[in-house]
Amino acid sequence: MTNIYNPNSQNIQKAAEVIKNGGLVAFPTETVYGLGANVYNAKAVANIFAAKQRPHFDPLISHIAEVDILKTYAATDERVFALAKRFWPGPLTFVLKRIEENPAIDLACSGLRTLTVRMPDHPVALSLIKASGVPIVAPSANKYQSISPTTAQHVADGLGDKVDMILDGGACRVGVESTIIDLTSKDIVMLRAGGTAKENLEEFLGEKIILSSGNPELPTAPGQLLRHYAPKNQLRINADFPEKDEFYIGFGSYNGELNLSPQADLSEAAANLFAYLRIADSKAANGKIAVAPIPLNGLGLAINDRLKRASYK
Ligand code: TXA
Ligand code: MG
Repeated sequence: MTNIYNPNSQNIQKAAEVIKNGGLVAFPTETVYGLGANVYNAKAVANIFAAKQRPHFDPLISHIAEVDILKTYAATDERVFALAKRFWPGPLTFVLKRIEENPAIDLACSGLRTLTVRMPDHPVALSLIKASGVPIVAPSANKYQSISPTTAQHVADGLGDKVDMILDGGACRVGVESTIIDLTSKDIVMLRAGGTAKENLEEFLGEKIILSSGNPELPTAPGQLLRHYAPKNQLRINADFPEKDEFYIGFGSYNGELNLSPQADLSEAAANLFAYLRIADSKAANGKIAVAPIPLNGLGLAINDRLKRASYK
């Protein structure tokens, strides 16, 4: 029996009840599918970590549907609201200081004094959050360190029996996770490249953003691990051409068994990335995958980040 549901209003209501009662609902966002729970229900949040087999020191993003709720649990200022006004709903996550000692969200925040939050740009996600009446914490709906899900079927394949409901919103439009920026100090630091291009943020802010080099031993700082998003097969990146036996994923004029974007469109490539890695994983007869070079501008920064981690041995 499948637990994939059409996201009509009746099923969204049903999913909201599941969230309120402490269950887990996988839902579509514009970036990737999330595995959602009520942020204030510690047991439900613990079940997210268990379902994903994710270590507790790796905190979760809260998803909200109205900007005003920010004031109730995070330190905000004009810069925060200006960024929210320009980029929300959308693939941009803020790290903010927590303002209350609410132990209920300690687990979601892995005990940190900061919390991460975003407003997803997807009608199903927004309806679900509103119907639930609470922020929904959601990591990507995949097993820890494996390829992120961009369709409902990907979620079912990886976590099927661990989630109460999966709402099917089709393939995710952006295809890579949100960009994460740390707004807790004067200088803005980008902790994860993602669906909002660094150039767009810099243009809006009129200042340069620092790219975190990160501390992979301590993912609570940058939220990043060296090995992540990994296919089962060996992955070689920046490959100008395939070696014998390699399943080659092309880009632009680099043609292969698959091509992330024949027109060399980085948004299209981001949207195809995780699904193509899954296909390559199932088709690479000799356990080897190679991917063409991808430029570093725009969403290329996020694509290269994911590929680098996916290829880490
Ligand atoms: O697009 C997205 O952001 C997706 C969708 C579902 O919204 N979510 C997502 O969540 O990618 P997740 O859990 O797979 O990645 C969140 C990242 C983690 O690497 C985590 O370490 C980092 O955010 N993070 C969370 N809270 C943090 C904090 N307070 N400080 C620094 N990094 C944090
Ligand atoms: Mg993830």
